[in-house]
Amino acid sequence: MNSEVRINLNHLINNVNYLKSIMSNSEIYPVIKSNAYGHGTLKIAQKLSENEIKTVCVATCNEIVEIINSNIKLNIFHLGKIFLKKNIMQKNVVFTINSINDIKYINSVCKKNNYVLRCHIKVDTGMRRLGCEMIDFCDIYKLALKSKYIKLEGVYSHLSSADNKNSKHNSKQINNFKKIVNQVKESNIKFHLLNSAGVFNYKDYLYDFVRPGLSIYGISPNKKVNNNLKPVMEFLAPIILHKQIKKGDKIGYGCSFIAKKNMKMAIVQCGYGDGVPIEFSNRGQVFYEDFQFPIIGRVSMDLICIDITKYNQKKNIDKVTIWGGKNKYSRLEYIANKFNTIPYVYLTRISNRVERKYV
Ligand SMILES: Cc1ncc(COP(=O)(O)O)c(C=O)c1O
Repeated sequence: MNSEVRINLNHLINNVNYLKSIMSNSEIYPVIKSNAYGHGTLKIAQKLSENEIKTVCVATCNEIVEIINSNIKLNIFHLGKIFLKKNIMQKNVVFTINSINDIKYINSVCKKNNYVLRCHIKVDTGMRRLGCEMIDFCDIYKLALKSKYIKLEGVYSHLSSADNKNSKHNSKQINNFKKIVNQVKESNIKFHLLNSAGVFNYKDYLYDFVRPGLSIYGISPNKKVNNNLKPVMEFLAPIILHKQIKKGDKIGYGCSFIAKKNMKMAIVQCGYGDGVPIEFSNRGQVFYEDFQFPIIGRVSMDLICIDITKYNQKKNIDKVTIWGGKNKYSRLEYIANKFNTIPYVYLTRISNRVERKYV
């Protein structure tokens, strides 16, 4: 008996359609890096391609190769640092230019291969991560337009604090991006700036494309649940043993839980080796219908122990939900917030031994 994640592909499409409904004319470039945020790259890519999505975003060269090899009909937008190999120099792959050195590199590799590469320039408007310096943009832009080996199609940036509507830094970055947009005179160049949180908080700056990740998987980027977004992933694990615990019994590694009274306990086949965060030890919960059962003791590699004393129904509980599913407290927005972290971390840490079932 194993833990599993159920991936509801209809929810994925519901979420994409909802995002479309709140945007005017800008096109969605869903972000499917890091194994589609733990949901499985190829199944997610396939479903998106069947539902009018033309382009997906990834971060690494291996992620490009995985999609190319699958023959799924999608354009692939590479958000990462450019590194060219013959197998990814294809007409459906679009690369990012971050510096003058990237232009020199593209020119030298593409000259040898007599190849014209589709590119966007990324500008660092204030996040101080990827993207060229604002001051270098004009030179990079001119060099890209002049190059025989570059087909410049877009210019973009990324906000550091899009989930915080009150951030003055967002206004600064948006103003910087506007300055960049004003320097671009060619009408065929497209612009994009926003991730999921940006789509909700900065609707005036949708530009030509948006790059939502988290929200297409049904999780609100704004910490509070948005009922229009339906969680795509439900993480489930089987109960494999029941025990009667006596007052004073010590549970699990390190005896970190000592029973204050007699209890009914269940042991669940799922631990940090599957992706249950260690910080759930003595603080997390699992879910079954309307019930919430506390995790007691330390999360082990393969197992967790839960207190089911309050369970008063006849029906046997076969599986519990770690997150996702119908119980409103099982939404990752709540859980991540409780543990002072972000849902992305939990989604992407589901390990390989957890079977993904697509429904
Ligand atoms: C450049 C870029 N755009 C878009 C996204 C998608 O962000 P989100 O998942 O918050 O929508 C990311 C995610 O890390 C990113 O790095």
